[in-house]
Amino acid sequence: MRVQVAIIGAGPSGLLLGQLLHLAGIDAVILENRSREYVLGRIRAGVLEQGAVDLLDRAGVGSRLHAEGLVHHGIELCFESVRHRIDLSELTGGKCVTVYGQTEVTKDLMDARAAAGAKTVYEADAVSVHDFDGDRPKVRYRADGGAHEIECDFIAGCDGFHGVCRKSVPAKAITTYERVYPFGWLGLLADTPPCGDELIYVNHERGFALCSMRSRSRSRYYLQCALDEQIAEWSDQRFWDELRRRLDPAAAEALVTGPSLEKSIAPLRSFVAEPMRFGRLLLAGDAAHIVPPTGAKGLNLAASDVHYLSTALIDHYATGGFAELDAYSAKCLRRIWQAERFSWWMTKLLHCFSDEGAFGRKIQVAELVHLINSRAASTAFAENYVGLPY
Ligand code: FAD
Ligand code: PHB
Repeated sequence: MRVQVAIIGAGPSGLLLGQLLHLAGIDAVILENRSREYVLGRIRAGVLEQGAVDLLDRAGVGSRLHAEGLVHHGIELCFESVRHRIDLSELTGGKCVTVYGQTEVTKDLMDARAAAGAKTVYEADAVSVHDFDGDRPKVRYRADGGAHEIECDFIAGCDGFHGVCRKSVPAKAITTYERVYPFGWLGLLADTPPCGDELIYVNHERGFALCSMRSRSRSRYYLQCALDEQIAEWSDQRFWDELRRRLDPAAAEALVTGPSLEKSIAPLRSFVAEPMRFGRLLLAGDAAHIVPPTGAKGLNLAASDVHYLSTALIDHYATGGFAELDAYSAKCLRRIWQAERFSWWMTKLLHCFSDEGAFGRKIQVAELVHLINSRAASTAFAENYVGLPY
């Protein structure tokens, strides 16, 4: 088999890239090692920046997002048991974010791909990438009991943090930067109305909490937890009781509890691999970088990478030139490091760090007081939260 672009991974990066290339008349296949149902069942991000919404519109998959997504013009920060609103739109000349689950984005992209008749191989085993330092890269995989090889012009490594693409690059060609945080997030999804109209980020001495949502009838909550926490030890009741303790009295009062649809623990990590292009292998999304979820940047960074990558590939097929592909890595990394900094800073501001002690907490509160009282500081926060320009 021969295609122009072989995409590894059917997460948001791979699916969105596939759709943008399809619309430009570029032939691509997607290889995914999990099943379609498994990919759709993973509960992850929920907040889209305007840039990501615009890109999904350009990809022709924006209609359900606009019909069902919730446009948010602000967020709330809660500390010392008092909530303070940051008016994102007023501080950024009208920008906002849209609450729409990653599972819905993925479903819309899968449906568009199926309607276009574009090929995705799910449950592809033993995917491996070869010869990307030359002109004729190849991808090998096993499916339906047989071995397959695809010859292509480019390989797009959209296979997430644990994928095969980044690991296939010789160690001397890649530099990685990493910070692992000493806690995780315990997430719970429930069919209960959210406890507020907007997201609430909570700094509390018992640990960070976040009140988010997927719709007006579905809530998503997170609690900072220890890294070795066992999910089996967290009954729904224990989760709700702990969340209530970390909220301000009005939010605690408004909290509607119910049975969980999903509960999971995610570790927090900052990670960047440089560069993102190795000959004809190009990394995008979590394959190249991870942010702690505090700033809601993971999915949005995947979208901006895909914007730059699709633009570069479309330019290459239109002109035969490599200028945009040569610039790909630097353009992405400039924006990635801005989001890395913001996500790291927000994580430091809102979580309990046991080694920082009482002094660390006082410093956090001082910074939060400044953040809500200084228009300059609130503006800097809002600009980053709604997303820096592509
Ligand atoms: P992924 O979504 O990871 O997709 C990669 C795809 O490649 C997967 O489908 C995977 O199965 C496939 N794959 C992997 N290896 C191979 C292989 N060898 N061969 C073929 N296919 C392969 N971001 C937020 O903003 N907010 C959140 O709350 C949030 N929560 C998260 C919770 C978890 C547990 C995780 C892991 C991430 C979370 N993120 C969150 C980050 C966000 O979900 C990611 O940034 C986003 O999914 C990146 O999309 P991607 O397509 O680059 O990678
Ligand atoms: C979510 O809804 O899953 C979510 C929202 C905001 C974040 C992280 C996760 O910062």
